[in-house]
Amino acid sequence: MLRQPLLLLARSDQVKRLVTTMPVSAGIVRGYVPGEDTQDAVEATAGLVDDHLRVTLDYLGEDTLDADQADATVQAYLDLLSSLAARGLTRHAEVSVKLSAIGQALPQYGHKIALENARTICRAARNAGTTVTIDMEDHTTTDATLATLRELRKDFPETGAVLQAYLHRTESDCRALSYEGSRVRLCKGAYDEPDEVAFQSRLDVDKSYVRCLKVLLSGQGYPMIATHDPRMIRIASSLASRYGREAASYEFQMLYGIRPDEQLRLAEAGESMRVYVPYGTEWYGYLMRRLAERPQNLTFFLRSLISKQ
Ligand code: FDA
Repeated sequence: MLRQPLLLLARSDQVKRLVTTMPVSAGIVRGYVPGEDTQDAVEATAGLVDDHLRVTLDYLGEDTLDADQADATVQAYLDLLSSLAARGLTRHAEVSVKLSAIGQALPQYGHKIALENARTICRAARNAGTTVTIDMEDHTTTDATLATLRELRKDFPETGAVLQAYLHRTESDCRALSYEGSRVRLCKGAYDEPDEVAFQSRLDVDKSYVRCLKVLLSGQGYPMIATHDPRMIRIASSLASRYGREAASYEFQMLYGIRPDEQLRLAEAGESMRVYVPYGTEWYGYLMRRLAERPQNLTFFLRSLISKQ
């Protein structure tokens, strides 16, 4: 119920200024983001890998309208990949990239710039012995993102896709992407979407998630089941055994800091479990989406905000 107003409020520059300068934000951010630089990201990865978890790292930033900023983001990924390789972590750690952070939203040639930048990151990932997954953003970018993914997969077929179960179109996208070797992360979806394109109720989103799971798990690809929802996890496990899936032919994914005990439990039970680790200074949009999903944290956060007025 609070999700839509919060995501709407998050678009205000004033709110952004207030939230990013408040000391209380730093404490809450640390629950979701292990640090701001490459070193922090690599240390967090090493700790998770020691616990038999896999990792995908996201250098935070999105919707950039500045070509230099997009270049800086590409450079951050290149630095990260070489640091992960130097620590021998690339067997267990890949990267997740938002196209809007590497140029997709630029007013001129955004699509082409983002594709070239993504190619540079995919090449560096392959040289480092790992892969890239292209995050999915709001529905206005879905077609462009899938078009970029198709281009990338011509040279880098290992590149992962993300599909969001809250979109009406996603069951059909799952079918289209359910071919051999195709890595597909299925999540519920984190943006505020209109009802013309997206299911609005939790129940309808969950039902869509299960339909998509069936398509992916019965298909030929490599499903990456990204959810913290205990019910979805139970259903995914039973579908995986119904379709005769070996543990190595799919994986679970969760966000850093969310249900860490469950992450360890799944890994100990023999499942492949990957943790999405965001890092960097541009944590605002990411934090707002996490707060919108978690009313308990939101109440605490708003109370702190009001007491500072
Ligand atoms: P849901 O939100 O229904 O929560 C189910 C349960 O999980 C809750 O009852 C609670 O127990 C726990 N939980 C959920 N959120 C929590 C929180 N913040 N703090 C503590 N507990 C919490 N989205 C997108 O649009 N594009 C993308 O590319 C990605 N990428 C991505 C990667 C990975 C690895 C994950 C796990 C998620 C994403 N997402 C995403 C986000 C996703 O779409 C979704 O918004 C969140 O995962 C929350 O949805 P759940 O499936 O966890 O269920």
